[in-house]
Amino acid sequence: MLAIIGGSGMTQLPCLEISHRQIIRTPYGEPSGPLTFGKIRDRDVVFLARHGHGHTIPPHAINYRANLWALHSLKPLHVIAVASVGGIRSDLAPGRLVVPDQIIDYTYGRSFTYFDSTEQRVTHIDFTLPYSQQTRALLLQGAKNANTEIIDGGVYAATQGPRLETAAEINRLERDGADMVGMTGMPETALARELELNYATIAVVANYAAGRGTNVNGIPLKEINAVLEQAMVRVRNILEHVVSCHGD
Ligand code: HPA
Repeated sequence: MLAIIGGSGMTQLPCLEISHRQIIRTPYGEPSGPLTFGKIRDRDVVFLARHGHGHTIPPHAINYRANLWALHSLKPLHVIAVASVGGIRSDLAPGRLVVPDQIIDYTYGRSFTYFDSTEQRVTHIDFTLPYSQQTRALLLQGAKNANTEIIDGGVYAATQGPRLETAAEINRLERDGADMVGMTGMPETALARELELNYATIAVVANYAAGRGTNVNGIPLKEINAVLEQAMVRVRNILEHVVSCHGD
């Protein structure tokens, strides 16, 4: 089975032939919503809308631990996260798709680990390469098969939100080495590693980051939905090809 976490612009997957929905309770509480089970091209897929079915849960209030725990309980071969980002690097224009290979965490106050009990031995995870190389390769292959352009690699900066950044903050993120900025990459990526899931992200550039590109004086929020809507058509196409090539 393949698991897909949908972000802004993807609260459902129209290409999924739904068989049922299931509410899964976890030791960490409830996920963002019921898991949707079904098939794409005859392959088993489970889908979870990260911000809830009606897109009501802001990035800092998402129960990332419950979300990943629920998906982990299904033993998926891969977990594919779809996430919208602001483009910092000049070629990351609105509508571009990227498979990031690194991440920097600027979030705070979120429940970010499963290993916080004082009852168990202290556990560290290796996070040198934060995304699964196999899952990244699968996404890149899926994009190739779908004849859809996607950028291989980039550094994702995970910010707290829900507000967007100042231009100075974006300059700082760039000096830190970030290519794109989003609000949900952490702790999701780290929790996936703690659970040893094969996890990778398709980042969808929704806008130029603050102060970048055409957004010197502000980010035109009204334009974001249209960009995401168009880009998600390509993302869904990639996902269909990914499902076809991943095996069961
Ligand atoms: N900043 C942070 N998160 C985002 C952005 C942004 O500009 N665009 C989409 N998600």
